Amino acid sequence: MDELEKLKAELKRLNAEYAKIREVAPEKRGEFGRELNAKKNAILEAMRLAEESALDVEVEPIDITAPCGVNEELPTTYSAFQGSAHPLMTELDRVISIYQLMGFDVVESRQLDDEFHMFDSLNFAKEHPARDGYDTFRTEEGLIPPAHTSTMQHRVLKAYRDKLQNGEEIAVVVPGRVYRNEDVDATHEHTFYQCEGVYVSRDCTMGQMLGILREFFEKYYKQKLNIRTQPGYFPFTEPSLEFLIEKPKTLGGKKGDFLEMLGCGMIHPNVLKMAGIDPNEYHGFAWGGGIDRLVMLKYGLNDIRYLESGNLNFLKEF
Ligand code: DAH
Repeated sequence: MDELEKLKAELKRLNAEYAKIREVAPEKRGEFGRELNAKKNAILEAMRLAEESALDVEVEPIDITAPCGVNEELPTTYSAFQGSAHPLMTELDRVISIYQLMGFDVVESRQLDDEFHMFDSLNFAKEHPARDGYDTFRTEEGLIPPAHTSTMQHRVLKAYRDKLQNGEEIAVVVPGRVYRNEDVDATHEHTFYQCEGVYVSRDCTMGQMLGILREFFEKYYKQKLNIRTQPGYFPFTEPSLEFLIEKPKTLGGKKGDFLEMLGCGMIHPNVLKMAGIDPNEYHGFAWGGGIDRLVMLKYGLNDIRYLESGNLNFLKEF
């Protein structure tokens, strides 16, 4: 095994050690964490040096005018790093595939939106304090990088509402990048990904929604899961719920260790009405949750900031 591979393996072993912090007596945790961090930094530094020296070789320039085949004979000492898909994109594709298998259409969100789609179309009353929970950025023209993928609900409902007339249901998921004015720390990022779900039919129920969500999470984590809901508040759903899963044992969870994965609920009649759908005839449910959170749990990441850092040492682990 070359030096870099050895260091990577060491880093992986060390990363697993972090999970053990739970078993350490509370007063010793600080010291335990500091020791691990020091070891980790030493390994990361050694990796950086190993990478640099791997790159520090004389490379013959490639003759781009040469006929096919000649360029294949690169010096054997040449070491180039091959890029790979970002883990967030790989996982987002997995998420979308699961919903597609369940019959959902996919509509992409956008990275700039407006006040109407961000708030008004979602039944946020003017000046209502609930708007503060979605503090994001604004351009000088007053456009808004969306704070959630729910900004797409109104467009999806309008674009698909003819289906209802034909006796079909609306079933759409909306992946997208979202932005929040956050104090960034290990569990909060200003930029992350969400996936929204929107379902409307004549007679859908909350039970169906919970069934869909359970199915999704069990497919994603490839195992049976315990789920739980608790009351939530969103102006665009009534009633509103928070949806939790019990952290699987295989991912270091203990019994009773529930994690909130998304917000959901029955679509508020005002939201349907604003999109030209009669709430006396049709009902809907919707949900939205972070992709980063799914990925962090899957890979045991302890810091969300890795995901948007562009840190090559991190990305090469995938
Ligand atoms: N948009 C909410 C958020 O980011 C999550 C959410 C809650 C989405 C309820 C929904 C929903 O579609 O029905 O906090």
